[in-house]
Amino acid sequence: MSNRCKKLPMPDFLCQPEFMADISPALKRPTIRPALVEDAAAIAAIYADHVRSGTASFDTVPRTADETGQKILEIQAKGWPFLVADRGGEILGYAYVSQFRDRSAYRFACENSIYVRDDCIGQGVGTLLLRTLVDVATASGFRQMIAVAGGGEQASVALHAKLGFSHAGRMRSVGRKFGRWLDTVYMQLELGEGDRAPPDDEPA
Ligand SMILES: CC(C)(COP(=O)(O)OP(=O)(O)OC[C@H]1O[C@@H](n2cnc3c(N)ncnc32)[C@H](O)[C@@H]1OP(=O)(O)O)[C@@H](O)C(=O)NCCC(=O)NCCS
Repeated sequence: MSNRCKKLPMPDFLCQPEFMADISPALKRPTIRPALVEDAAAIAAIYADHVRSGTASFDTVPRTADETGQKILEIQAKGWPFLVADRGGEILGYAYVSQFRDRSAYRFACENSIYVRDDCIGQGVGTLLLRTLVDVATASGFRQMIAVAGGGEQASVALHAKLGFSHAGRMRSVGRKFGRWLDTVYMQLELGEGDRAPPDDEPA
């Protein structure tokens, strides 16, 4: 029996190795780490579920694993975070940022994307991922983070509000999926010094 097990206020039978093997993955907090191209299939599967059954994404056709691998490489090549929540080698969710819009003046504003595996929703994975994403995006030099909650999904709005994002607008009926018109809700978080100081790398 391990020391860790002895410290837990649990009956002895719970400390048998076969029982610990069953419950430990559920108890272990996931690690948040940069995504690898090898994670692409798991990430693509998570996204595909949300594309097929939810309104958070306005995609109607999921990305392939190859396209996902390419996206991981493109985002990371720009020095931006593409993170996964990894529990014992299983990918429970992922999050990344991209520039809010392509035009150059937007280069200090990023948009986040965050998706948690269907069977892991409501277990704190989204909170862990988004907290880390905010920290790494700030360190990458972004000054504002925008969340675009497709369909105004309640869970997405609640998660972002929990982390301090404020409402920045709502566009009515800009999407259509599952035979319904869909709104998008915009939420915004200031990163680092926000607009209180110019960025370090302002061109002359
Ligand atoms: C939004 C999403 C990422 C949240 O991930 P999660 O792991 O379930 O989130 P957490 O368990 O950390 O919960 C965070 C907060 O969200 C809220 N929340 C979670 N699920 C909710 C639900 N179904 N309805 C309302 N609020 C909900 C709670 O306030 C919760 O905080 P609390 O537990 O401290 O009260 C997840 O639901 C998801 O992948 N949704 C589909 C994709 C999406 O909407 N992405 C965001 C837009 S890019």
